[in-house]
Parts: sequence; C-alpha cells; structure tokens
Amino acid sequence: MKVNFNLKQAGDSVTGRIIGTGSYVPEQIVTNENLAALVDTSDEWIVTRTGIHERRIALEEGTSRMAAEAARRALKNAGVEADELELILMATSSPDYCFPNGACEVQAAIGAKNAVAYDISAACSGFEFALSTVQAFLKAGVYRTALIIGADCLSKLTDWSDRGTCVLFGDGAGAAVIRAEETGIIHSVMGSDGAKGQVLSCMSRSEGNFLNGKKPELGYIFMDGQEVFKFAVKKVPECIRQVLEESGTDINEVKYFVLHQANYRICESVAKRLGQPIEKVPMNIASYGNTSGATVPILLDELNRQGKLNRGDKLVLAGFGGGLTWGAALIEW
Ligand code: UT7
Repeated sequence: MKVNFNLKQAGDSVTGRIIGTGSYVPEQIVTNENLAALVDTSDEWIVTRTGIHERRIALEEGTSRMAAEAARRALKNAGVEADELELILMATSSPDYCFPNGACEVQAAIGAKNAVAYDISAACSGFEFALSTVQAFLKAGVYRTALIIGADCLSKLTDWSDRGTCVLFGDGAGAAVIRAEETGIIHSVMGSDGAKGQVLSCMSRSEGNFLNGKKPELGYIFMDGQEVFKFAVKKVPECIRQVLEESGTDINEVKYFVLHQANYRICESVAKRLGQPIEKVPMNIASYGNTSGATVPILLDELNRQGKLNRGDKLVLAGFGGGLTWGAALIEW
C-alpha cells in the first residue's frame, strides 16, 4: 500500500504552536477627514459608529508583497529559515492573481523552496481557517513547520463613492510560523452558512465572455452592514463558547480574546455577551480599520512585540466574515 503522508510525529499529543509572528501595513495613511473630502461622511460618524480613525492603503504593494514582508518578519521572530517551511497557507480574498495563488508568490519571494503553498478563501475568517487547517496537518504528522498568513488589499475592491463601505476597510498582512509541538493550538472550530452569502459579497466576474468580446471584470464589495453586524454579535460569542466548552476550558482562564477588527461596537458586544471585561479584548481598529483576513494576525503580532504574551498564556482568536464564515481557536502561547 502506498502512503502519501510523511508520518513524522503523528499522535494525539501533537499540535501546532505559534513560535513567531510578523505583520506589515502600507505607509500611506488615509484619515477620516481625507474620506470626508470624497464622500458624504464625517470623522464623528466614522469614529462613533466604528471606532476607526485612520487606515493604511496600499499604493504600490499588492497583497502578496505585503504578505511576503509579514512572512519575513514572522520567520525572523521565530528564528526559522525559509527553507525549513513545509507548508504555506495564505488566507486572502483579494489575491493579486486568480493564479498563481498568493501563497506561491510568497514562497518565491521568501525562497521557501521546500514548502507546498496554497490559498484559503474565507474572507475575514481566513486566518482562523488557516490555523485550523494547519493544526489538522500537524496533528496528522503530515508536516512539522508551517507558515500561515492573513493578507488583504481590499482597497482595490472598494467602491470609493460608497460611504457605506469605503470608510471601513484598510490594507495589510499578518503572519505566524507554526511548529509541531505538544502544546499550542488546544482546539479550533470553523463554520459556514453559504445560504447567507449575499449579505457580504464581491463578484469576481460580472458575466460570461464566451465569444462576446467582453473582458472579465472585478466587482466592488457589497455589504448589508446591519445583517453582518447582527450575525457577528451572535455567532462570535457562540463559537468562542463552543471552542471553550469542547476543550473543557473555563473562560476566565483566557487572557485575551483576539477578535476580528471590524467594528469596536462588535468587540464590545462580544465582551459583554461573554461576561468578560473589555480590557481582555485588545483592539487596533482605530489605526488600521478592517483589514479582513489580516486583522487577527496583525493584532496578535502587536501583542507579541509589545511583550504582552507570556509562555502558557491562553488566548482565543476569533473571526467572522464573508461566506458567511466564522472560526475560533483556543491557543496556549
Ligand atoms: O469583516 C466583516 C465585514 N463587515 C462588518 O463587520 C460590518 C458590520 N456592520 C457594521 O459595522 C455597521 O453596520 C456599519 C458600521 C457598517 C454601519 O453602522 P450602523 O450603525 O449599522 O449604521 P446604518 O447602516 O444603520 O446607517 C445609519 C445611517 C444611515 O442613514 P439614515 O438612513 O439613518 O438617514 C446611513 O445612510 O448612517 C448613514 N451612513 C453614513 N453616514 C455617514 C452610512 N454610512 C455612513 C457614513 N457616513 N460613512
């Protein structure tokens, strides 16, 4: 019998541990005042409804260039060489190309010649989906060292005349190096509800072009903000409770809830529904806005570099977004 898997360290006691993080945001700052010059909005409206003060917009960098820089920083932080990587998963819903995939571009840019590389598309939950996927590979003993990236450049999919969406998003990338160890990712859950997909969507091609001379076109982001809000404040606490219950973990053992940064009001509501103090829900949405799949790894990297994470700390990472999709992971630092 031919077995394709390389069973190096399989077993229940093996999981993945995050051993390094990195992030990258473009230099260009766009303030709320800058946007108020473009559409009928105000700094006051944006700050009170979302918590966003400014965001970074990529002028030259594409998704993969941001991702590659975040990856280099994560590798350096982990003390891992690029050629030690066996798997690169890039969570993105705004890749530079349909193909090659963004992870392959990162692979080439950082010289990770021994890795298999592919993308995961789950919008703002993408990083949590990548984390769960890596955990499964590591548990099964297929790989030992992996890189996961959340990277998005939603500015290129944004209708800059739509005040309902253009004030919300920013560009950026975050990455984590994960190694097979006995402690680390304790448990993770993922979920999808495709029937509600149309409340948050972005069409990749408006119509067929068979012999009609038309070029493929990208659509703009469409969002029913209130529906997404209602979904988030219900689903995020639900999946966090699920990941804690299934792993037999008391919520008070968790040091930080590292949540997708879409709206500070969503973070506040999640903390309230979980009965947890808001101090346990760090936020950086004021500076970067919603960077989609990149929010959680950027925030995690900031906490790491600020020295706020100690070995043994328990963290919950949680995301939600287009699909609809959601995911949560309980990890030990
Ligand atoms: O990564 C996941 C993706 N997205 C999300 O998680 C977003 C979830 N949703 C939200 O965060 C909020 O629903 C928004 C921030 C998008 C909107 O906040 P809201 O409190 O739900 O506002 P709303 O949509 O109910 O709009 C209230 C008013 C409306 O005017 P009228 O009808 O009351 O006259 C909007 O037209 O605010 C108006 N409005 C704006 N006004 C100034 C909508 N966008 C703007 C704007 N500036 N940028």
